[in-house]
Amino acid sequence: MASPVANTTSSKRRRLLLLAAAVALTILALTILVPPVSAQRRPVRLRVYVQEVLGGPGQTEKLLVRGPGPENPSLWPPHNYFGDTVVMDDLVTEGPANDSAPVGRVYGIYMTASMSRPVYTVSFTLLLSTGPYKGSTLVMAGIDDDSMPAREHAVVGGTGALRGAQGYVLGVVMPVSSQYVVMELDVHASVPEPTNKAKAAASHLIMDL
Ligand SMILES: *[C@@H]1O[C@H](CO)[C@@H](O)[C@H](O)[C@H]1NC(C)=O
Repeated sequence: MASPVANTTSSKRRRLLLLAAAVALTILALTILVPPVSAQRRPVRLRVYVQEVLGGPGQTEKLLVRGPGPENPSLWPPHNYFGDTVVMDDLVTEGPANDSAPVGRVYGIYMTASMSRPVYTVSFTLLLSTGPYKGSTLVMAGIDDDSMPAREHAVVGGTGALRGAQGYVLGVVMPVSSQYVVMELDVHASVPEPTNKAKAAASHLIMDL
């Protein structure tokens, strides 16, 4: 027969065990019900084509500011000056042909940023008008070096379903004529994986590809 002292000790131990189990269950429940802000990121891959009409009918890029110079001799056609700034409102299509399905527009500027080399600074925003990211934007910035086969810009952010976007975009220029070039944009980015709570709040914006 157990002594009264032993009985008290074992019931104390039982109570402690119950308490520990309750604490563990509470922590487990909180973990399931309130997930922490996720560190996971979801990839965003897009390949689209920017229709750049530099002159003539349907022109979508125009000289906004004539730079103070000096003239940059590395650029063709001639008469480019340091600081020349062009504003753009270009159609973006699904394929390289200008009559393929429209998927958005690119708004932005580029400026002759070198006095001697074929280098521009660029800052542009891709607004998507169709698909899972309809109404969302990707914001891109960097330099264009015309002596390089491919351009690489940073994806510095985004809006809507592309909030918090980060990554890079590769641009390949395909000249069609002296007044018309097509630029392939290959976006390699990611966005933060939203928590269930954020998903519910923005369910009208977020769709799976
Ligand atoms: C579409 O592209 C063709 C050449 O591929 C060109 O002849 C035509 O002018 C372009 N249309 C527009 C609206 O830019």
